[in-house]
Amino acid sequence: MEKELLNVNQRRIVLKALGLFPLATGSILLNASLSGCSSTSEPSSNAVDLKVTDESALNNVDGFLRRTYGSNNNGDPIIIIKTFEGVYRCISASCPKNCEKKPKAPELGNPISKQIICETCPMKATYSTDDTSFGNVISGQPSQTLREIPSSYNPTTGILTLKF
Ligand code: FES
Repeated sequence: MEKELLNVNQRRIVLKALGLFPLATGSILLNASLSGCSSTSEPSSNAVDLKVTDESALNNVDGFLRRTYGSNNNGDPIIIIKTFEGVYRCISASCPKNCEKKPKAPELGNPISKQIICETCPMKATYSTDDTSFGNVISGQPSQTLREIPSSYNPTTGILTLKF
């Protein structure tokens, strides 16, 4: 009996960590939820779904959307760009160059002509948003490419899942 209670408590801890505890109060649901767990799975609370067909800004190739998702990405906005039909790339709006003398948080501007420029810094680092060279440095000598947020798109459901 004592051992069984300990197992239930352990399950609660795991489900809380996964953000599933309020949904899984019965033992059947507890067991079902745990059966899909593996040591490499990511907590579901860090996955955010976006129905791209509801976003007119993403109707056309090169369309983009700038949005903040709570505390994900350290509370900084992300930019979602439709780089190809059925292909969406997501980046942090923070400039990876992060210059020492930047006037404020280094924020990337909007993607134009398959490029994106750090507009809040005089160094004006420029990166590619073309799908074939996505994130690469064009000018401004940044030491790293754009920071891409992993995502997957399901064309059947029209859902883009962001994995923070
Ligand atoms: S912080 Fe982006 S170019 Fe300086």
